[in-house]
Amino acid sequence: MEYKNIIVTGGAGFIGSNFVHYVAKNHPEVNIMVLDKLTYAGNKENLAGLNPEKVKLVVGDICDAELVDELVSKTDAVIHYAAESHNDNSLKDPSPFIETNIIGTYTLLEACRKHNVRFHHVSTDEVYGDLPLREDLPGHGEGEGEKFTPESRYNPSSPYSSSKASSDLLVKAWVRSFNVQATISNCSNNYGPYQYIEKFIPRQITNVLCGIKPKLYGTGQNVRDWIHTEDHSSAVWTILTKGKIGETYLIGADGEQNNKDVLEMILEAMGQPKDAYDVVKDRPGHDLRYAIDSTKLREELGWKPQFTNFKEGLEDTINWYRDNRSWWEKDKEAVENNYAKNGQ
Ligand code: NAD
Ligand code: DAU
Repeated sequence: MEYKNIIVTGGAGFIGSNFVHYVAKNHPEVNIMVLDKLTYAGNKENLAGLNPEKVKLVVGDICDAELVDELVSKTDAVIHYAAESHNDNSLKDPSPFIETNIIGTYTLLEACRKHNVRFHHVSTDEVYGDLPLREDLPGHGEGEGEKFTPESRYNPSSPYSSSKASSDLLVKAWVRSFNVQATISNCSNNYGPYQYIEKFIPRQITNVLCGIKPKLYGTGQNVRDWIHTEDHSSAVWTILTKGKIGETYLIGADGEQNNKDVLEMILEAMGQPKDAYDVVKDRPGHDLRYAIDSTKLREELGWKPQFTNFKEGLEDTINWYRDNRSWWEKDKEAVENNYAKNGQ
């Protein structure tokens, strides 16, 4: 089913704004209302250049029930990206994570229930906790325990991931008890343009661009399953328009890499020696490995990732940060000071 009027919560953040650009480009007939509080991670500039007749920004909080009710009453679908999204921040102060990720999702679900509006909930693979490293699995990672599947047990590690797990459970309950027309997707680590510079890849790229040494947590053996944000957008659009109500779809592009290897790729692409980084304090409770089995999404809905050349995607991302210095430079000092206070 196609939707003419959609609300994208968190549409001024990293993945949300990439989704807005994706829809504006590939489905220009759709009217998009972005609902975003513009926290430190939200930025109006992420929506620059889009047709103002088709893309409108409402600056507001998803926890504001009155505002949410009014906006939802006039739409056909809500695609819910808004969240506090950074694990390290959640370890310092969990409260905004509980507020936005749980109460915010509840507020949206209640409005969608009242107005019978389609809801897609954007979530994370971190709700499943972590996996052992492949070398520690029997048969070196072939078989059970290799990847997350939609049947994996919820086992979140951090305040961030447990708040996202809570929000997933609210969506499941609202589908079952109130027949809310909702789907859920759990995606792996995204990279690409417009990612706030607190996150691993843009932090290291902008460190090199500022002459600061990149920072690796612990041994760097932790594995993340990288997907280009453009592939995340096409997957969410596919689920929104073709997904079965009540179902969960896992989104991933077979992009497992350990952090040390990713950092070395960044250094090499930026003309630096491979060992030009500092090892810093590890993250408490640091998840070891994520890996997604996206068979259900591929086989049932026919989705396929397009941007699977990680080296090329990384080089494009480096170029984006190089070409858009004014987008990130004003925040760099504060972000690094914050990390430094924590020994990171
Ligand atoms: P982000 O931090 O870059 O952006 C979050 C956006 O939400 C910002 O624009 C912010 O202003 C807005 N926001 C925060 N609180 C709000 C509130 N109370 N009301 C309205 N708007 C609010 O996050 P991101 O990395 O783009 O992640 C977007 C979504 O995707 C999140 O739900 C996250 O859990 C999920 N996700 C992220 C990744 C990843 O790799 N970054 C992977 C899988 C899933
Ligand atoms: O898996 C999906 C999740 O991916 C999303 O739900 C989160 O919103 C998103 O932030 C991301 O979580 P991570 O914690 O994996 O991402 P982050 O960029 O913070 O860190 C990636 C890895 O890099 C992680 O193992 C920690 C490590 N790291 C991070 C930073 C910021 C470093 O080694 N050095 C750093 O400076």
